[in-house]
Amino acid sequence: MTASVAPPEPSLLPRTIGRYTLFDKIGRGGMADIFLAQAQTDIGVSRLVVVKQVLPHLADSREFSELLIMEAKLAARLDHANIVQVHDLGRADGFLYIAMQYVEGFDLNDLLRRCSRTKTALPVQYALLVVIEALRALDYAHRKTSDDGAPLGIVHRDVSPSNLLISFEGEVKLCDFGIAHANDAAPNGAYSEDVIKGKAGYMSPEQASGHPLDGRADVFAVGIVLWELLSGRRLYKTAPELPSLLDQARAAQVPDLVSRGLPLEEKLFAIVKRALAPNRIQRYANAQAMLVDLEHYVAESKLIASPLRFGEWLIDRFGEDLIHQRRERERAVHRLDAGAQAEVVAEMGPPPSARRPFVPSDAPLAAAAGNDAGSVDVPFAHFATAAERSSSRAWKFFAGVALVVIGGAIAYSMAMR
Ligand SMILES: Nc1ncnc2c1ncn2[C@@H]1O[C@H](COP(=O)(O)OP(=O)(O)O)[C@@H](O)[C@H]1O
Ligand SMILES: [Mg+2]
Repeated sequence: MTASVAPPEPSLLPRTIGRYTLFDKIGRGGMADIFLAQAQTDIGVSRLVVVKQVLPHLADSREFSELLIMEAKLAARLDHANIVQVHDLGRADGFLYIAMQYVEGFDLNDLLRRCSRTKTALPVQYALLVVIEALRALDYAHRKTSDDGAPLGIVHRDVSPSNLLISFEGEVKLCDFGIAHANDAAPNGAYSEDVIKGKAGYMSPEQASGHPLDGRADVFAVGIVLWELLSGRRLYKTAPELPSLLDQARAAQVPDLVSRGLPLEEKLFAIVKRALAPNRIQRYANAQAMLVDLEHYVAESKLIASPLRFGEWLIDRFGEDLIHQRRERERAVHRLDAGAQAEVVAEMGPPPSARRPFVPSDAPLAAAAGNDAGSVDVPFAHFATAAERSSSRAWKFFAGVALVVIGGAIAYSMAMR
C-alpha cells in the first residue's frame, strides 16, 4: 500500500514526496521541518530516513531554497563517520527537501535538557568524547578538497549543541550544513557577510562582527561547547539587563573555568582557553590541532571513552525514552499501514523524561539564539559516582528485552509493507 496524498497538505501526515513517505515530525529548526520517513527502494525494501523540508511559509523564498540546495550539495560531498550522510535532494509539489541518514538518539541540546531534568550528570569522559568526535567531523570538512585537489574551504558556521546528534550507539554526528560555506559553492555575492547567520550563543567574535570566516570560527564554537560542558552552564546568557547575545559574542569575554578536581586539569583548561582566544591568530590554527591536544589530554588523564560505553550509558539512563520513542514510531508506522492521515500539531508525545519543548521557528536567518539558547542549565559534567553507576540490573534487563521486541516489531511491520 502506498499512502498517496492529494492534494498535498503540508500539515498532514503521512504524505508522500518523491520516494519518501513522511509519517512523523521529529523536529523543527529555523528554516525546515524534520520528518521521519520511509524510503522505498527499487527492490521493495523500505528503510527509515530523515527528510528535511523547507517550512511551508518559507517555501516561496528563493533565499531559503538556495540555502537548502547549497546545504545538500555541500553535505553530499562529505563522507565521514561523524557527519550525517545526505542521500538525496529533491523537489516535490513545490517543496524542496533533503533526505538523509536517520540518527536515532538525541541532539546534544536535547540530551543536556534531559540530563538537567532528571538531575543526571554527564560524565566528563563522555563530554570529552562528544567534543573529540565533533572535531573529527570538522577536521575532515575543513580539509576537504575538490576532485582536483583544491581546498574547498568549508566552514560549518553553526556548530552548536542542537547540530550535534548523538545516537544510542554512542556515535556523534555533525548535521545541519544549512549555512555552511565552501569557496566554490557560492553564487556571485551570495556570501556577503552583511547578514550574520548562525547562533549568536556559539559565535566567534569575528563571525558576530560579520568578518570573513575560516575554520577557526568553528574551532571557537567547539570551544564554547566544551567550556559549557565543563562548567555546567551557558557561556552567554540572555536577560533583559544583559547585552544582546550578539554583543556578548563580539566581546568574547570568557570567564576562566573553575577547578573541578579533574586530572591534569590545567592542561585541559589551557586547551579550552586556546580554542576560545578572541583573536584568532592566538587560537588553534585548525580543528586538527585542537583534536591532537585533546586526544593527548584524554590519554594522559585516562579519560578515554569509547562510543560503545557511551551508548551503554545512554541506554542505561535514557533507555526508557528510547522505548517510548520507538513505541510512538511503531504506532506511526501502523497508522501509515492503515492509510489514515493525521494533522501534525507537535512532535511525538512526551517521553518519560519529558521531551524538549516544541520550538516554533522565528528568527532563522539573522543571528539568532536558536534552539540552543535559553535558561536551561547544563548539568555539571563530572565523574559518575558509584551510586550513579549502580542502576538496577532488572531495569537494564527489561529495557534490553523491550528494545529488542519493539525493534523487531518495527522491522517486521516495515518488511511486510
Ligand atoms: N538526521 C537526523 N537524525 C535525527 N534527528 C535529526 C536529523 N537531522 C536533524 N535532526 C533533528 O532536527 C533538528 C533540526 O535539524 P537541523 O538540520 O539542525 O535544522 P535547522 O537548520 O532548522 O536547525 C536537529 O537539531 C535534530 O534534533
Ligand atoms: Mg540546526
